[in-house]
Amino acid sequence: MRQAGLRINPVGRSEAARNLRNRAIPIYLSLRVPYLWDMDSALDYHTAKALLEWQVELGVTEAIGDTPIDRYALADVAPGRAKAAAQATATPGPVVPTPAEDPVAVAKAMAARAGSLDDLRAAMGAFDLCDLKKGARNLVFADGVPDARVMIIGEAPGREEDQAALPFVGRAGQLLDRMLAAIGLSRTETVYITNVLPWRPPQNSDPKPEEIAMMRPFLERHVALANPDFLVLMGNISCQTVLGKRGITRLRGHWTEAMGKPVLPMFHPAYLLRTPSAKREAWADLLDLKVRLRDG
Ligand code: URA
Repeated sequence: MRQAGLRINPVGRSEAARNLRNRAIPIYLSLRVPYLWDMDSALDYHTAKALLEWQVELGVTEAIGDTPIDRYALADVAPGRAKAAAQATATPGPVVPTPAEDPVAVAKAMAARAGSLDDLRAAMGAFDLCDLKKGARNLVFADGVPDARVMIIGEAPGREEDQAALPFVGRAGQLLDRMLAAIGLSRTETVYITNVLPWRPPQNSDPKPEEIAMMRPFLERHVALANPDFLVLMGNISCQTVLGKRGITRLRGHWTEAMGKPVLPMFHPAYLLRTPSAKREAWADLLDLKVRLRDG
């Protein structure tokens, strides 16, 4: 841990912020905070981000120096000298704001330029506007046969997928493989698999609407480049992303059209692990897919 010089403007709504206001603290304080980029820190990205958000809630509005200053140690120094010492270590020069980029517009432009699946993978790897990327170990792009007739769209990588850089390799993925095998399909020969999000959300939380919105252009391009005959949407997040609606219990088993393809929503395998009684409906949907493949 190191200390950073921070400008405090105690305007937060929390108890801590109120206490700071009531104690009429000096405007300049140093807090013991880890730098996000401090390579010695044992903190991971999400813990460091949570600490930073806590500071913002306290009213921290600006980082004023790279070098930590212990204000308590400066208490005995004459005010004029303390001010000079603080100024000597403060970062000179104004902070130049970068123009805000619209992540969805940037994603659309980058996705549109991808002429192949390899290009698309590279474009997603170069996309820096989704915070999930910073907390993930790997980009999880796809698995299976790129020109398969069936393309499965899941939600997001979990821990195992993040480690392996492949979708659906954990328990839910193993169930998915068994489900596919039951109708004669496999990711090694007849199925292509991807996710709405290529980076693991922290603690496997639900993706945020803005994350879905900024990654959707890549998914749409992914579907166009893979060009399957049928899309299978696993669970609510993929339905929300591709169809713009949730409610998998109502949606499942009903074919619809989206992204220029026939689409079949199904229960997510992770849900089936938690709710084995729903396997009956999943089996009906798999048989329906098998018939479509045979007839279509
Ligand atoms: N669940 C998903 O939706 N996708 C994966 O890759 C793994 C679990």
